[in-house]
Amino acid sequence: MKAKPELSLHQVTVQDLDTIRALYLDVWGYNRPRTFDQWRFFDAPYGICPAVLAMDGERPVGFYTVWPVKIRLTGRMVLGGQSMDTMTHPDYQGQGIFPKLANACYELSAARGYKILYGFPNPLSYPGFIQRLEWQHTGDITHWIRPIRPSGHPGIPSLLGPVTDLIVRCYPKGSTRQFDISIGIPSLDMLGGQMREWNKQIGGHQIDRTPNWLKWRYADQSENDYEWVCAYRQGKLSAIGVWGMQNVQWGQVADQRAHLVELSGIDHTARQAILATVIKRAFQKSAILIETMTNIGEVTATLRRAGFIRHRQAPLIIRSLDNDVADAAVYDHDLWRFIGGDVDTF
Ligand SMILES: CC(C)(COP(=O)(O)OP(=O)(O)OC[C@H]1O[C@@H](n2cnc3c(N)ncnc32)[C@H](O)[C@@H]1OP(=O)(O)O)[C@@H](O)C(=O)NCCC(=O)NCCS
Repeated sequence: MKAKPELSLHQVTVQDLDTIRALYLDVWGYNRPRTFDQWRFFDAPYGICPAVLAMDGERPVGFYTVWPVKIRLTGRMVLGGQSMDTMTHPDYQGQGIFPKLANACYELSAARGYKILYGFPNPLSYPGFIQRLEWQHTGDITHWIRPIRPSGHPGIPSLLGPVTDLIVRCYPKGSTRQFDISIGIPSLDMLGGQMREWNKQIGGHQIDRTPNWLKWRYADQSENDYEWVCAYRQGKLSAIGVWGMQNVQWGQVADQRAHLVELSGIDHTARQAILATVIKRAFQKSAILIETMTNIGEVTATLRRAGFIRHRQAPLIIRSLDNDVADAAVYDHDLWRFIGGDVDTF
């Protein structure tokens, strides 16, 4: 009988980029832009992603990583991470590689000062997280969509396309009256002030949004052509939004789905003005729909008024890496606040 191969596990460094990409291609059948992977794994403001690779000799067979973020746990700031890009080569699945890599990555993360992790697993990884890795499913976060040009969707028969497009053009959008709208990132001073106001307004546990982190999060290297939309009233920044869509660097897999990744501002008419602008610009760029994930009450009210509908629920899972955060009620679902940009696939 052939002996089971002895796998070696190692901490990922920047030299592993091509190895990770080779595994990704084997697992998913395509690759993301190289600049995107470099940006996401190695260029984050809080250091490179803690990540572990499993090798069978020279062959990459498993990978697990977390994406660093600062998290405000009802006001207390800690280093945390989002679980992402869990993958095991199809020839090696069912041998416990995923839990082994995940545990190694948690040890590595804890040693680097990470306190807490969150994630939105798919049905394949969900059981492993809950049953073997001590994660808690605290509740669900809603995925919202707003059709823009349904005729571009592969599921819509071509004869019905023009009619559905016309119907969708009658959906509510909201108005930009009362505001000066500008495209492009605002001054970092204004942005910092606006984000502090917003953090206070929504409260709870949330990803910390400093201007520098936001600048990195929506950088050109992500190849999503992110665009900032700002609403000013009498020279004061009242609301901001960011949206993007995979660009030509994604080749065949670019799906023409626009992502709303930020929407904030305590004045709800200003948020509406941002959304009206985003919808218009996504239409001009031939998006088939706009999507986001959020449970922030203020934002969901604005989404509804602009024709967004609940599409599905995504399970939110949480795992503490340190008893030190136990008193912060990290498993209390109602305290968490998320929006699109907090989710690695947006
Ligand atoms: C999800 C994934 C990472 C799990 O990796 P893994 O190393 O196979 O994990 P495990 O060995 O713990 O197996 C997970 C479960 O799948 C079963 N399984 C999966 N493939 C199997 C196979 N080829 N033969 C036997 N069992 C298999 C295992 O028995 C186990 O079920 P159990 O928990 O009821 O015992 C892997 O399936 C994968 O890479 N999928 C594609 C990428 C993906 O969807 N990633 C998740 C992104 S959130």
